Amino acid sequence: MVLVVPILVMTSISAVLAGLLALADKYIASYGECNILINKDKQLTIEGGNTLLSYLIDERIFIPSACGGKGTCGYCKLKVLEGGGPLLPTEVPYLSRQDILHSVRLACQVKVKNNLELAIPEDLLAAQQFKTVVERIEDLTHDIKMFVFKLVEPTEINFKPGQYVQFCIPDTNEFRAYSVASPADRKESIELLVRLVPGGLCSTYMHEALEEGEQAYLTGPYGEFFLHEESQKDIVCVGGGCGMAPIKSIIDYLFKKGSQKNITYFFGARQKRDLFYLEELDRFEKEHQNFKFIPALSEPLPEDNWTGEVGLITQVMQKHLKHSKNQEAYLCGPAPMIDAAIGVLTSKGVNVNEIYYDKF
Ligand SMILES: Cc1cc2nc3c(=O)[nH]c(=O)nc-3n(C[C@H](O)[C@H](O)[C@H](O)COP(=O)(O)OP(=O)(O)OC[C@H]3O[C@@H](n4cnc5c(N)ncnc54)[C@H](O)[C@@H]3O)c2cc1C
Ligand code: FES
Repeated sequence: MVLVVPILVMTSISAVLAGLLALADKYIASYGECNILINKDKQLTIEGGNTLLSYLIDERIFIPSACGGKGTCGYCKLKVLEGGGPLLPTEVPYLSRQDILHSVRLACQVKVKNNLELAIPEDLLAAQQFKTVVERIEDLTHDIKMFVFKLVEPTEINFKPGQYVQFCIPDTNEFRAYSVASPADRKESIELLVRLVPGGLCSTYMHEALEEGEQAYLTGPYGEFFLHEESQKDIVCVGGGCGMAPIKSIIDYLFKKGSQKNITYFFGARQKRDLFYLEELDRFEKEHQNFKFIPALSEPLPEDNWTGEVGLITQVMQKHLKHSKNQEAYLCGPAPMIDAAIGVLTSKGVNVNEIYYDKF
């Protein structure tokens, strides 16, 4: 007890001092003019004091920032070769040992206080901002809406099936990631499926305020999750919720290309009210003998009159998937579902390096 009181007092004083230093840094510190050199080529001159991510956005360099700069997605990685200062505790969970060795940092966490030298991959520099008009909004389920954005400037987008774009929340520098649901050969518009996250900034704005005919800005395309067209292997897709979006884009694309690969699509939902695109996927099944769609409900209600598969999607995969090394997999949906599905796929002979996924 005698020791505990001084320790508590010291801890409180340290916390207050840290808070005061942070406030002083925010409102008093001036870092003057700083130069940011990108890929030994482009140089930005800015007034220091803000995050690297915000300067890049101001310069129309659209690094992925799916959490809106909160340091919770780990998507805004780039190499800070000089001047980044020490790694912050907020960055560590998102950086591998290799990342740290190669000076990778989170752009939203690095505050610009002096000159910086950056290396940014060319594909990220190629991401564009698209001015769009909301062409159509449709309810798909009780909490998922489909949005179609007609591209105004530039008028076309090139992306790989499976990739995502970011929606910019108006009057903010906040972005959220949404997988493209439309096929990659439809270049003049972008279709997104957005689930309403209770209390969520962007999904609430899109569900409750955004209207047909309004202007909206998207950036992209982004993402390492995309169809590997060169592969000859059969395809297993696993989706849940809005994970339908990139999988639908991949399947649409494969059919348009006349793919003869066997494609099996497992889709997990809780109840019938969470299912959508059933008619379209049924039609695909009728038109393409090489396609099988297997939806499953984990908690069907009596009034659902559900005669299909019941159980977790992983249990249904166990039942239907044959053991074969000649298959690769595309997974998209909630993290626990993906982690469990990876276990099933590897037990069925799928090479772990040929299991591609986006968790959200
Ligand atoms: C690569 C990628 C692709 C994505 N594709 C899609 C897509 O196609 N459709 C889609 O609807 N979403 C998708 N997301 C998720 C999307 O980017 C947003 O995170 C989501 O819409 C919530 O944003 P928000 O601004 O409404 O909530 P925020 O204001 O960011 O969050 C509000 C609260 O909700 C929590 N929260 C955030 N996201 C979720 C979530 N997904 N489920 C439950 N709680 C959450 C947060 O922890 C926070 O407490 C994708 C994410 C990534 C990284
Ligand atoms: S961690 Fe999400 S934007 Fe930086």
